[in-house]
Amino acid sequence: MLNTAFQLGNLKVPNGVLLAPLAGVSDVPFRRVCQELGAGLTYIEMLSAAGMPHNNRKAGELIARGAAEPILGAQMTGAKPEIMALGAKILMEKDLVVDTLDINMGCPVKKIVGRGCGSAIVKDPKLAGEILQATREAIDIPVTTKIRLGFTKMNQTVEEVCAELVSAGTEMLVIHGRTRDCGYSDPVQYDRIKDGFEAARSAAGERKVHMIGNGNVFDLKTAREMVDKTGCDGIMISRGCLGNPWIFDQILNDHELQPTVNEWLEVVLRHTEYHREFYTEGHYAAIRFRKHLLWYVSGFPGSRALRNEISQVNSMAEVRERLLRYAESLPGELRRYGDPHEFAKTGEYDPKNEMDRDHDRGVEHYEES
Ligand SMILES: Cc1cc2nc3c(=O)[nH]c(=O)nc-3n(C[C@H](O)[C@H](O)[C@H](O)COP(=O)(O)O)c2cc1C
Repeated sequence: MLNTAFQLGNLKVPNGVLLAPLAGVSDVPFRRVCQELGAGLTYIEMLSAAGMPHNNRKAGELIARGAAEPILGAQMTGAKPEIMALGAKILMEKDLVVDTLDINMGCPVKKIVGRGCGSAIVKDPKLAGEILQATREAIDIPVTTKIRLGFTKMNQTVEEVCAELVSAGTEMLVIHGRTRDCGYSDPVQYDRIKDGFEAARSAAGERKVHMIGNGNVFDLKTAREMVDKTGCDGIMISRGCLGNPWIFDQILNDHELQPTVNEWLEVVLRHTEYHREFYTEGHYAAIRFRKHLLWYVSGFPGSRALRNEISQVNSMAEVRERLLRYAESLPGELRRYGDPHEFAKTGEYDPKNEMDRDHDRGVEHYEES
């Protein structure tokens, strides 16, 4: 089912395994790697509607589409209907061509929430619907929404928000199965995602709205769990793809095989090449690549020691050299550890499992005046 194409309005999405918009991560080079490994739809990093009239270097880098990208989504957040509508309009006037726009109603970052954006919107289901409606009226591409279960555990608005969004015409509904006050270590509430989908389906009547589950999808097993427990049509991958773009291939082709050292090296070097093409060969490019390296080396022996070295790399040439040296120290047919718990028993750890709140976000992108 996840391997089936679906329509978002006029847009054909090749499969239901999507790459989430990931601040500081889902740039042109990383999206390309994920697309090559099967991701059905990928997004540029979240934009601020209020920040759209202003341009800076980061915005230029964010709002970019690679020549090889088959389809592309953008994501934006805005506190009010008129702000979102204007931001969406400005986006459509830029050179970048995007095929669909998602409205972020889930971001927990203090700076965003303090401005009434991101997850603050789910406090007010009616407002959520109005923001969506105004955005749909402003642009011609399919508009979708990504929400949390509610602002707090005690105030879960998921059913009301889903019903409002569907009535206002969302083409797709992505539910992250946590509230804003949850940390990443809190479990995903599959039953509440399901409640949201049911409310959405009953508001949709005959109209098909795509339901996408999000949260803790780290491999084939957790992807199946999301589908079985929520009845979603598709899934959105977030931390599960950090250092692990193979996850798309595993889920779409129904296998649990981890890459061997040789397969791993081939993809990581390809990523470094795309990264160098996009950011050019310099200190800035290397710094931006460091976090990918930290995630990529996880799952192989000796990664803890390597991490210290990696956090010092200053050029993409140095990145390549470290990667080759490390790969040479391991048998080429050795497979990466799949199970993070098994991996943890080796005394190693995976940094992406320790992320929370502001640490994991490129919040510097959300500059607003
Ligand atoms: C580094 C990072 C950046 C993120 N950036 C965004 C973003 O720009 N837009 C968004 O809707 N969610 C963003 N998220 C949230 C994820 O899309 C997702 O909802 C959340 O991580 C839960 O999924 P997971 O448990 O599979 O990681 C981000 C998460 C991480 C870890």
